[in-house]
Amino acid sequence: MEGSRVVIQKDFCVGCGLCVSDCPSSALRMTDEGPAYVGRCLECGHCVAVCPTNAVVMPQLDMGGVVEYDPRRFQVDPACLLNTMKFRRSVRFYANKPLPLPLLTQLLEAGRHAPTAKNTQATRFVAVQADLPELKTRFWAAMPQIIEQMQRENSPALAAFERFLHVHDTQEGKDPLFFNAPAIILVLSDNMWDAGLAAGNIELMAAANQLGLLHSGYLKRALPAAPGLCEWLGIEKEKLACVLLCGYPGVRYTRTAPRKPAEFTIR
Ligand SMILES: Cc1cc2nc3c(=O)[nH]c(=O)nc-3n(C[C@H](O)[C@H](O)[C@H](O)COP(=O)(O)O)c2cc1C
Repeated sequence: MEGSRVVIQKDFCVGCGLCVSDCPSSALRMTDEGPAYVGRCLECGHCVAVCPTNAVVMPQLDMGGVVEYDPRRFQVDPACLLNTMKFRRSVRFYANKPLPLPLLTQLLEAGRHAPTAKNTQATRFVAVQADLPELKTRFWAAMPQIIEQMQRENSPALAAFERFLHVHDTQEGKDPLFFNAPAIILVLSDNMWDAGLAAGNIELMAAANQLGLLHSGYLKRALPAAPGLCEWLGIEKEKLACVLLCGYPGVRYTRTAPRKPAEFTIR
């Protein structure tokens, strides 16, 4: 039998049973001595989060990262949040200024707290800033091989990549594909939903900090095709799901961008 992933500290437990009722996998059962662990734990941490007396511990998880609820820290105005979402743009111009490490870390924190199917928490994040120039050098050196592979596969992206290489080779200062962004974030996951949700969190956190961000489907397609690049990045055994360019924006939008007319069904 698996070891107990949930420890109830009897001295603190008041026997309210909230940990038992909120457990999505019925891993806890109420007994005469209080809640008891019976197995099948998803490690979602709800028992820790819901306990009114902080009596539940999951020693194998990052308990140090658990934060107490404080209503003063939930003052996100819904209208402002929606406005932030509406004003978020895919940014293709970046200021020549690196991202401070705490800010980069905060973006990754936002990604890490996204939900994952079956709570696998298997999404991994690699942020590249200091090493981005070398990544780019390696990438462009591999571009002829990437293009050859696209030719063999009859890829619909071929013409675009030939154009990127041409611009890179002939137009100094232009930075095709990377848009002079100071940092990129690689989101690694076998599950595209998990990765997309994490990327959405990162994007929203970037918008809250008035940073620019761009999902690059092109780089997601091309980086793994560059021989040796994934090994150099240390991600050769993982699935690259999203590539996010980010940095301080070098463009300012004065209004929101129009969307297709809303088509909601509410019934
Ligand atoms: C999954 C995904 C992949 C994308 N890939 C690229 C890309 O490779 N290059 C690019 O310039 N924009 C890319 N975009 C940005 C879209 O073109 C952009 O979201 C769309 O034009 C709407 O603009 P907005 O994000 O500013 O509202 C991508 C967006 C998503 C969601």
